[in-house]
Amino acid sequence: MEIKISPSVMCCRVEEYKPYLELFEKVGLDSVHFDVMDGKYVKNVMLGTTIYKDIKRLSSLPVDVHIMAWAPEEFIPYYDVQPGDRISFHPETTAQPYKLLQSIKERGCRAGLVLNPGTPLGYLEECVHLVDYVMLMTVNPGFAGQKMVPDALEKIVRIRRLLDDYGRTETDLLTDGNTTPENAKLMKQAGANAFVVGTSSIIKGLDVFEDLYYGYKKMLEEA
Ligand code: DX5
Ligand code: ZN
Repeated sequence: MEIKISPSVMCCRVEEYKPYLELFEKVGLDSVHFDVMDGKYVKNVMLGTTIYKDIKRLSSLPVDVHIMAWAPEEFIPYYDVQPGDRISFHPETTAQPYKLLQSIKERGCRAGLVLNPGTPLGYLEECVHLVDYVMLMTVNPGFAGQKMVPDALEKIVRIRRLLDDYGRTETDLLTDGNTTPENAKLMKQAGANAFVVGTSSIIKGLDVFEDLYYGYKKMLEEA
């Protein structure tokens, strides 16, 4: 499967948004990862509607909106998400995950489920023919700079096996959290093909971004 890399805006400083977005387009990244946090589902508040609008104004890349909030169906209308964007949410945060996936697709967006460490794969199994992609949190959600949880790799194997068992062999499996080059190599070997990258991997300064990106991508393609 194609290797996809999605840089996390929450790891960029606000004065770096524009130059980073220009670099993301220059190197041909897949999308821009945009974390939304409500301060309740996770103990952090992140990335409001005006920043989303600014990102859309400054870049033509698809935005991958990752909603870490209770009742994500109430958050989506706040963001003027465009067809081609991606919206993912944690299934335990809504009463009707299947219906929310349907409504995201009706907006012309790709719809993803996000599983935390500890969230059962049963949610995915019930929606396996509806999701456009799956994202596994390889850290507990809410903050950059954390360490990958011990069971992450084994869970990647189980998710990829579930997708394959249901014939969803081409469904992207993303990982979000501590995707260092060492971890990302193991994550790919376990079955992930798409990686949210942040402070742990290649968002370490504008001046070193391109070199870090090309080295990271090459390492993954050879993994
Ligand atoms: C967790 C966040 C972080 C961030 C990536 O909710 O989603 O994973 O985007 O930051 P690092 O690479 O430092 O985990
Ligand atoms: Zn995220």
